[in-house]
Amino acid sequence: MQSNFSTRLSERLREKLHVGIIMDGNGRWATRRGLSRLRGHEAGVEAIRRIVEAAPDQGIGTLTLYAFSTDNWRRPRTEVSALMGLLRFYLANEVQSLVRNGVRLHVIGRRDRLPDGIADAISRAEAATAAGETLHLRIAVDYSARDAILNAAVKLAGIAAPSRELFSDLVTGERGLRDVDLIIRTSGEKRLSDFLLWEGAYAELHFTERMWPEFDAADLTEALASFHRRERRFGGLQALSLEPAPSL
Ligand code: IPE
Ligand code: IPE
Ligand code: MG
Repeated sequence: MQSNFSTRLSERLREKLHVGIIMDGNGRWATRRGLSRLRGHEAGVEAIRRIVEAAPDQGIGTLTLYAFSTDNWRRPRTEVSALMGLLRFYLANEVQSLVRNGVRLHVIGRRDRLPDGIADAISRAEAATAAGETLHLRIAVDYSARDAILNAAVKLAGIAAPSRELFSDLVTGERGLRDVDLIIRTSGEKRLSDFLLWEGAYAELHFTERMWPEFDAADLTEALASFHRRERRFGGLQALSLEPAPSL
């Protein structure tokens, strides 16, 4: 079950880049320092703060962060509850600063399996930040791109002449979300792990050895510089600055 539609993004934000980040390596970062994995996840929250603050100045209008996948329920119960505790803490403590910085929050993924009170805290945080116009921050929690596509297909069944745009809105849970321009994955892993499979169809990919807790504004600048050096052709023969119309 995906979350309800949020209102359509402003054109100003849609014109800016959509970057997705697979925030990986918290555990390894911590264990290499003789710390518990939980300390790595805590440091990961600090990295989220840094990157959310840095993103608008780097031409990013939409930022989708992969925080917890549906497959992450496979981890030991203690680690899962520590991660849920951090999510609760983030929602309780971050909203004021998100509002102050013009960040509009939207959490994607399932909400019905989260521990008590978190779904309500998400709805409150989304309502409180709904007017944000500087950055659209999407956090993926209990998220699976394949489930998002499957759920959209189920919702679409029975609709005559469905369009790609409508299907996109159902997959992303947003009206008119911009396709993902760039997906960054930290920690040296080179896979998508079920992240943004539909909206990332033409995303450029950037893999870095940096662990998520040490990722900073300079690393984001480097990822974007590499992105701007790429030639995006969308199936054509020359560089295009915008994706082709879905009906093309
Ligand atoms: C990413 O770091 C955070 C989540 C998946 C929740 P990991 O916890 O996957 O860190 P590694 O990959 O074990 O180092
Ligand atoms: C992907 O990282 C999910 C998040 C970053 C939230 P994982 O660490 O769970 O992915 P795999 O298991 O290495 O593919
Ligand atoms: Mg990992």
